[in-house]
Amino acid sequence: MTAQHAVSHDDVMAALATVNDPELHASIVRLGMVKEVVVDGDKVTIDFELTTPACPLRETIDHDIRAALEPLGIADIQIEWGARVLASNPKEGQKPVAGVRNIIAVASNKGGVGKSTVASNLAIALARAGASVGIIDADITGPNLPTMFGLEQGFQKESTGGLRPAERFGVQVVSIGFLLPKGTPVVWRGPMIGSAVRQLLHDVPWDDLDYLIIDLPPGTSDASMSMAQDAPVAGVVIVSTPQEVSTEDAMKAVAMFEKLDVPVFGMIENMSYFVAPDTGTRYDIFGHGGAQKAADELGIDFLGEIPIEPAIREGADKGVPVVEGFPDSETAKAFERIAGQVAARISVLQRMGV
Ligand SMILES: Nc1ncnc2c1ncn2[C@@H]1O[C@H](COP(=O)(O)OP(=O)(O)OP(=O)(O)O)[C@@H](O)[C@H]1O
Ligand SMILES: [Mg+2]
Repeated sequence: MTAQHAVSHDDVMAALATVNDPELHASIVRLGMVKEVVVDGDKVTIDFELTTPACPLRETIDHDIRAALEPLGIADIQIEWGARVLASNPKEGQKPVAGVRNIIAVASNKGGVGKSTVASNLAIALARAGASVGIIDADITGPNLPTMFGLEQGFQKESTGGLRPAERFGVQVVSIGFLLPKGTPVVWRGPMIGSAVRQLLHDVPWDDLDYLIIDLPPGTSDASMSMAQDAPVAGVVIVSTPQEVSTEDAMKAVAMFEKLDVPVFGMIENMSYFVAPDTGTRYDIFGHGGAQKAADELGIDFLGEIPIEPAIREGADKGVPVVEGFPDSETAKAFERIAGQVAARISVLQRMGV
């Protein structure tokens, strides 16, 4: 269909002004997301700026824009998607981390529930979406990220230039494990752990990160506490397995972060169920839905569930997380959806001035 009369730039802007961002509930024009509109005959090109490249609502926005422009009878609508991630505002007394716009902590009270697995796959999912991402292994007593990212422990121990991020799968990775030969037990006392995390944050030359993920050690240890107090954490993702002993601990972690005034983005249920690869039968090995129930009780978001997936464990041991190794798997897609939700929550909190 060709336009009945020439469509003007003003017509297009007026139509776009009626479209609301589905999460921020304000006009995309007022929010400054429409960077440029070029009208060329019956072709319109819109330069659109999302608040995150991992935006889960891009298709909704695309649909709403096309619907709003429909009455203008434009034959060809091109939308060029870009993204600019803003920085979270540090709270009073918190020192911003140079080169880092938003810090996302991944935590649980319990050990072994999958924090490092979630942290590494979220980091890679955000990077694959086009964000610039870093990750810190704050588990100073038992750093696992070097193995999970296929990076050798101790490879920077001869370095004189201090700890530098290693680039892997598009993510800047830093771990105290880089400085320690493999297998060395680390005996740190509480205050030392706190200051080591501070060093990982502030002494590493981060290169213009949209998101820095912090993989916390289990429990309400000194590292978690001091990090949550000093670092300008945008929010925390809580990982739990379905069974009650885990959700109880996860609820304690939520209470701790809320007390410290750190926003809780929501809860993830890891090892949620198992689908037998030979028969396709689903087994709820640890029960199912416990984390959703806990999140509902606490009034926080439930961010999604990750199945028990042999490829996750194998990938972790081989140094290729599932999102990188099997990007088309259901599990990788579940991580991508969670990453999108977390990134979107950060955008919303920023606009609310939190
Ligand atoms: N969904 C899953 N399916 C299969 N294996 C998993 C899954 N999630 C985690 N694992 C495996 O379980 C083990 C523990 O996971 P992970 O190291 O991520 O937990 P953690 O909470 O970081 O542990 P810690 O408290 O020791 O830091 C790892 O071997 C990991 O590969
Ligand atoms: Mg861990």
